[in-house]
Amino acid sequence: MCGIIAYKGKRPDAASLVLKGLKKLEYRGYDSWGVAVKTDLNIVIHKKIGKIGELNIGKLKLPTSHLAMAHSRWATHGGVTDKNAHPHASCGNRVVVIHNGIIENYLQLKKALIKKGHKFVSETDTEVAAHLIEENLKKYPGKIDKAIFRHEVQRSLEQFKGRYAFLVMSEDCDSIVAARRGSPLIIGKGHDGDYFIASDIPAFLDYTNEVMYLDDDEMVVIDGGHDFIDLKTGKEIKKRIVKIEWKAQEAEKGSFLHFMIKEIMEQKETIHRAINQNEKLMKKIADAINKAFGTYFIGCGTAGKVCIAASYLFSKICKKHVNVQFGSEFPNFQHFIKKNSLLVAVSQSGETADTLEAMEVAKKKGAKLLTIVNVEGSSMDRMADLSIHIKAGPEKAVASTKATTAQLAIVTLLAYACAGRLNEGKKLLIEAASQINDMLNPRYEKHILELAEKIKNVESMYVIGRGMNYPMALESAIKLQEVSYIHAEGFAGGELKHGPIALISKGTPCIALVANDETRSDVISNAIEIKARGGFIIGVSPRREEVFDYWIRVPDAGDASPIVNIIPVQILAYQLAVLRKNNPDMPRNLAKSVTVK
Ligand code: F6R
Repeated sequence: MCGIIAYKGKRPDAASLVLKGLKKLEYRGYDSWGVAVKTDLNIVIHKKIGKIGELNIGKLKLPTSHLAMAHSRWATHGGVTDKNAHPHASCGNRVVVIHNGIIENYLQLKKALIKKGHKFVSETDTEVAAHLIEENLKKYPGKIDKAIFRHEVQRSLEQFKGRYAFLVMSEDCDSIVAARRGSPLIIGKGHDGDYFIASDIPAFLDYTNEVMYLDDDEMVVIDGGHDFIDLKTGKEIKKRIVKIEWKAQEAEKGSFLHFMIKEIMEQKETIHRAINQNEKLMKKIADAINKAFGTYFIGCGTAGKVCIAASYLFSKICKKHVNVQFGSEFPNFQHFIKKNSLLVAVSQSGETADTLEAMEVAKKKGAKLLTIVNVEGSSMDRMADLSIHIKAGPEKAVASTKATTAQLAIVTLLAYACAGRLNEGKKLLIEAASQINDMLNPRYEKHILELAEKIKNVESMYVIGRGMNYPMALESAIKLQEVSYIHAEGFAGGELKHGPIALISKGTPCIALVANDETRSDVISNAIEIKARGGFIIGVSPRREEVFDYWIRVPDAGDASPIVNIIPVQILAYQLAVLRKNNPDMPRNLAKSVTVK
């Protein structure tokens, strides 16, 4: 949600460095982009609506500079216009800011600044920050040193309510200041006094893999070196440099047309990587779950569906009830949280605001926090008492695929660990991983493409599943909605007859997710009911059933059936998106990593 990158260092091509980095962050927000470049005389700003993707950076003819920052936007306050794109400048252009998050009290601050003569040009909440900092700097005409700059930015930040990641530059100072409350910012330390500040690591991974994390209510001033400051105490703090294991090429498309299909294909290896966990850690976590007074699985969107799957897997494999809530709804259930409760936050990014809030709520109640997360060093990873890293590598397509199945693998493994059968779980998942490897071949893709061609113009489609495949029906619907823009809904097979079956008419595609378990015959009966009303039945199943109009074969994977069943739907969603000329990597209205509530 909004991509941020800045560079300060010895190289003279700061503008091109940040724009190249911004291209790598475009998955975070892509309705407009902009760049601010500091020269000896002033700050040059260039901003535009649309995607930065194919921009010819050279054509912009931006000045040479050692300090620049750039932003790709996912609109919150104010429509998608050139004026609302970041960076935002104060009236005199003395202060320029970029921002991710929401300043909740911006209207009140804006009114006060207008009274003082400030002229606003955008509808954004962000612009108040530029004007307010300029107002606070008025008493220092001309050049300012980094101490003054830092002090006045800090004073201005104290007046903001809400969540933010800010970068601030001034025409009159060679430093850049970054501050964080709720939205991620990571500092990359390159060689020879080179610094990057970004909302995600792939933005600068070509140049350095040494990072420092900015925590909430912290600020950093970069000026040839770095000074971290605790905004609550005003004191300087020391930061540990962490080496990131991701390789730059892992965050590239390579020979694939889109990240989404590249990441789908990577599932040949990612399940293997996910389950390669430290046995002691898994047993320790299983013990914590077994002893907890109430375990709550929390996630949003796709991660939320993994949590629902966890509840089925725990019930079946280790006969344990676990609670499930979406991050945004969890605070309504905090009354049940006790000191010995356990909250398990599931997330790809580790930065989702709603899930983080749920963790904060549980932490205040004294509960223990566990996270199942992809991005190491993310806010959730650092907030949790215990973390399981799913090791899926950078996931750049907005629609989650490889992180989803890696999370599913971990929750399956945990359920087995809670039953004291960790090795059996591992064996099952190793077998599933090798079955997926066999399944993901060009012939398989072609078979699904033929289906996509048949149904690409439908208005609606439905997905049914039972037991542990019910959450996968919900997840299938999200995947189809977000990239194909076809209206799709997922249902528990048994629920259709209680209402939704009224939606079925001649030719309506309905995907039945089938597992070779006790739910098989019931879900097939539900498919027969749909077919009787004219539905076109697409079976995702280990066996061909008579009711299927189109069969997509999946391996018989036992308790790993949610993992193998979701993969063909991911491929179908991708192919529908491409056939309907949508960009599957950057679906409309969406952004990866939702850092606002
Ligand atoms: C859908 C999707 C989203 C995310 C959700 C939570 O494909 O990716 O629904 O699952 O925004 O994000 P994370 O997992 O980063 O917490």
